[in-house]
Amino acid sequence: MRTSFIATCAWLVLVSTLGVAKPINLRCEYLINPIGVDVAAPRLSWQLDDSSQGAAQIAYQIWVGTDSLGLLQGKGLEWTSSKISSNQTLQTYTGKPTQAFRKYFWTVAVWGSDGQKSTANIGSFEMGMLQASNWQGSWISDGRDVNLKPAPYFRKAFGVTKKIKSARAYIAVAGLYELYLNGQRIGNQRLDPMYTRFDRRTLYVTHDVTAQLQNGQNAIGVLLGNGWYNHQSTAVWFFHEAPWRNRPTFCLDLRIAFTDGTTETIRTGKDWKTDLSPVIFNSIYTAEHYDARLEQAGWHLPNFDDSKWKEVTFRAAPSTNVVSQLMHPIRDVEEIAVKKMSKINDTTYLFDLGRNISGVSSLKVNGASGTRIRLKHSELLNEQGRADLSNIDVHYRPTDDSDPFQTDIFILKGEGEESFKPRFNYKGFQYVEVTANRPIALTAASLKGYFMHSDLPVLGQVQSSNPTLDKIWYAANNSYLSNLFGYPTDCPQREKNGWTGDAHIASETGLYNFDGITVYEKWLADHRDEQQPNGVLPSIIPTSGWGYEWGNGPDWTSSMAIIPWNIYLFYGDTKLLGDCYDNIKRYVEAITARSSNGLTTWGLGDWVPVKSKAPVELTSSIYYFTDATILAKAAKLLNKTADYEKYTALAQQIKTAINAKYLNVEKGIYGNGTQTELSAPLHWGIVPPELKAKVAANLAQRVKADNVHLDVGLLGTKTILNALSDNGYADLAYQMAAQEDFPSWGWWIKNGATTLYENWPIDAKSDISMNHIMFGEIGAWYYKALGGIKPDPGSPGFRNILLQPHFVAGLEQFSASFKTPQGELLSSWKKTAKGIEYEVIVPANSTATLRLDLEIGQKVSNKGQILVSESKKYFTKQLKAGSYDFLIK
Ligand code: BGC
Repeated sequence: MRTSFIATCAWLVLVSTLGVAKPINLRCEYLINPIGVDVAAPRLSWQLDDSSQGAAQIAYQIWVGTDSLGLLQGKGLEWTSSKISSNQTLQTYTGKPTQAFRKYFWTVAVWGSDGQKSTANIGSFEMGMLQASNWQGSWISDGRDVNLKPAPYFRKAFGVTKKIKSARAYIAVAGLYELYLNGQRIGNQRLDPMYTRFDRRTLYVTHDVTAQLQNGQNAIGVLLGNGWYNHQSTAVWFFHEAPWRNRPTFCLDLRIAFTDGTTETIRTGKDWKTDLSPVIFNSIYTAEHYDARLEQAGWHLPNFDDSKWKEVTFRAAPSTNVVSQLMHPIRDVEEIAVKKMSKINDTTYLFDLGRNISGVSSLKVNGASGTRIRLKHSELLNEQGRADLSNIDVHYRPTDDSDPFQTDIFILKGEGEESFKPRFNYKGFQYVEVTANRPIALTAASLKGYFMHSDLPVLGQVQSSNPTLDKIWYAANNSYLSNLFGYPTDCPQREKNGWTGDAHIASETGLYNFDGITVYEKWLADHRDEQQPNGVLPSIIPTSGWGYEWGNGPDWTSSMAIIPWNIYLFYGDTKLLGDCYDNIKRYVEAITARSSNGLTTWGLGDWVPVKSKAPVELTSSIYYFTDATILAKAAKLLNKTADYEKYTALAQQIKTAINAKYLNVEKGIYGNGTQTELSAPLHWGIVPPELKAKVAANLAQRVKADNVHLDVGLLGTKTILNALSDNGYADLAYQMAAQEDFPSWGWWIKNGATTLYENWPIDAKSDISMNHIMFGEIGAWYYKALGGIKPDPGSPGFRNILLQPHFVAGLEQFSASFKTPQGELLSSWKKTAKGIEYEVIVPANSTATLRLDLEIGQKVSNKGQILVSESKKYFTKQLKAGSYDFLIK
C-alpha cells in the first residue's frame, strides 16, 4: 500500500517536472459550470497546473460548442478562437450569439513555455432566460394585505408522461423563497434571492431539478418570505416605508426537456393555489415566529388535497429588469455545537456558542401542544448572566411587543420531538436564551448554531508565531463573513445595512481572503441602481431612500470607484470598471459640484476614533482625489483620452489644494500631525515625493509619542499600518498591530473577542456592536506587509506580483498563502539559527518582482546559490514561476 503510494507520488512528481502546463479550474463568470447564465457573452477563465520553474502560458485557444463529445472534433461548434499568443487566462466569449436555455461545453488548450500543448477537461455553462420575453409564467401572489403576518404557501400539481431528459426551475422572487418539488427542498441555499432594490432589479435563481422530477404526478411547492421586500419591522431607516414594499410575489418557469427533443414549461398562473403557512411571522431584521400546530402534512406532495386552498392573484412584475443571480449563495456554512448550557430554571436555559456569529439557531424539543418558546439571541450577557440586547436594539422602533428583537417564537404542536430553524431571518449572536411558558427539558445538544453568510471560496490563509495576531486574522474573517449576505453590511444584528464606507475599507481584507468578485459585481450593480441622475449615492446600498442626505460623502460612497478598482487589481478584469465608468464619472462630478477649489467638507470623517479626529475636509478631499485618480486611470484603460486628461488634471488640482491648505512643507506635517492626518496623505499618494520620508518620520514619531498605540477611527485604520510599513517603519507597524492592551485589536482578543468590534473601548457606551468589519483592514495588511503580497497595477490580477515581505522585529515566523487568479502563491518566512529562511512559490504563468530590504552586510542566497554577497541596502529580483528558498543572513 505504502510503496504504491510512494510510486504514485514519484510518478506525479515526474509528470509535473515534465512541465506540461495543463489548464485546470475552468470557470465561467467566475463560477464552476454555472447554469442560468444571463450574460450574452460570458467570461471564461482558467489556471495552469504546472509547478515547473518558469511555467508560463505562451498561447491559448478556446473551443465552445453544444456537443460535449464533438467539441474537439469540430462538431457543433459555436466558437473556435484562433491560437492567441498571450499569457492571459481570462477571455470573453465572442462566438455565435448565445441562445437562451442552451448548454455550452468548452475547453481551452494552452501552449506552455516549452511549446507543448495541453488541453483542459471539458467545462460547461448553460444560458438562462437572456430576455424577459422568454418567461412564460406570470407573477402571482396570494393577494393578501401587506401587513398580514403569516407567510404564504403556493402549490401546483401536474403530470409528466414523456421521458425526462433534464429539468430546470427558474424562479424570480420579490421577497425570499423556499422551493420544493415532490416534497423535497430544492438546493441548500438560504435567503435567496439576494437583496436588491426590487423595483429596479429583481433576481431569479436557476435550479437543476432533473433528479426531483418524476414520471407521473408531481407537485411544486413554494413558501415565500418577506426579506427586504416586505419589511414589516419598524426601525430608523424606514424600510417599512420602502417604495417597493408589497406582499411577496414570484414568477416560476419549470422547463422540462424530454428525450424526444420537445420541451414543456410548467409555469405560474391562475391554476396555482395558495394558503397560509405555519410561519406566522418573518422579518429579515428581527426574527421568525412559527406555529407548528398549523403545519399541513404533505402540502408540497402531488396527492395533497388543496381544495380548501384559495386561488392566487396576478401581480405586476416588481421591476421590468429581471436578471439571473450568478453568485455563490448564502448557506449554513458552519454548524456550531453549544459550548456551554446553563439551566436557569425549569422554563429558562442559556446556551453559549463560544463565538460570535451571523446566522440562526435550531432547537429540538419535546413539549405539550401550545407550548410557547422564545429564543432570544444576543452578543452579550448582563450582570445576571442573561441575554442582553442593549448594545444592538438601539435603532429598533417597535410599535408593540409582538415583534421582539432577535427573538424567534416557536409554538409546539405536541407530537414528540419537534424542531425549528428560521427560514427567512438571520441574526448576530453568541448566546441564545430559551424561555418557555411551561417547563421544558433541554440539554446542550438541544440547540445548534449555524454560521450563515455568502459561501465564498476561501483564497487566503495566514499563520504566524504570534497567536494573538492569528486570532485577530480569524476575528477579522469572521466579521467579514458575518457581514456578507449578497451585499456587504456593517453588522449582522443592529442594522444589516450596506454601509458603503465600511465596505470599501474592508474590500481588500475580503479580496485577499475570499473569492468575492461575484458579490462585489452584484453590489456595484446595486450602486448603479441607486445613483441619482445628479451622481449622488446614498450612504447605505440598497436603501429605501434613507441615506441620500446623511453619511454619503466621498469618504463613504467612494465605494463606487474604489471597489471596481480593487476588483481590477485583484482579478485583472476590466468589466466592472467598464460597467461603472459612467457612474464613477457622474459621482466625481457630483463631488466637484459640492466642493470649492478642489476641497470638500462632504463626509463623516474618521468615524469612531480613539480620541483625535482629523478634519473632515482633509479626509474627504483625499477620497475625492482617490476617485478622480481612479477615474483617470480607468479612462486610460478604456481609451477615453479626453477624460484621462481631464481627470488627471482634476486629481492634480485636488492634491495641490490639499497640500496648500494642510501641509506644512517645512515641518513635513499635515494639520495637527495626528495619526490619520499623517497616514492618510501618505497612503493615498497626496504627499509630494520629496517630502515622503519626512512625513513618514513624523508619523513614526507621532506613533511612538502615542505609545505605539492606535489613535485613529475608521479612515485611519485603513492607512495607519500601511503608511508605516510602506515607508520604512514596518517594525513599528507590527508593534502597533500586535498590541494587546487598549486601544488595539489585540485588546478585544484578550477580552475574548472572536469578531471585530465597533468601538475601541470594550466598555464604550455607544457604537458598541460586537461584530463590525469596519476596523478590519488589518486582515489585508498581514498579506501586504508581512507577506509582502501586492497586485501590480501594471500587470493586474497578480500576473505580476509585487513581493516585499517585512521580517519584522518581534515576530519569529509568518506565512501567507493566497490563491491568485493564476494559482496559489506562497510567501513564508522564519527566523532560524541559519538566518531568515524565506520560501516563495510563484504560481504558474505569474512572475514576481521581489524586493528585500537588507541590513548592512546581509547576504542573500537561493537554494544555496549566492545572489548578494556585498553590502546592499536592498535586493531586487524578477522571479519566474516556481519555488524559491531564500536565505538572508
Ligand atoms: C454603522 C457604521 C456606519 C456608520 C456611518 C453606523 O451606524 O454601523 O458602521 O459606517 O453608521 O455613520
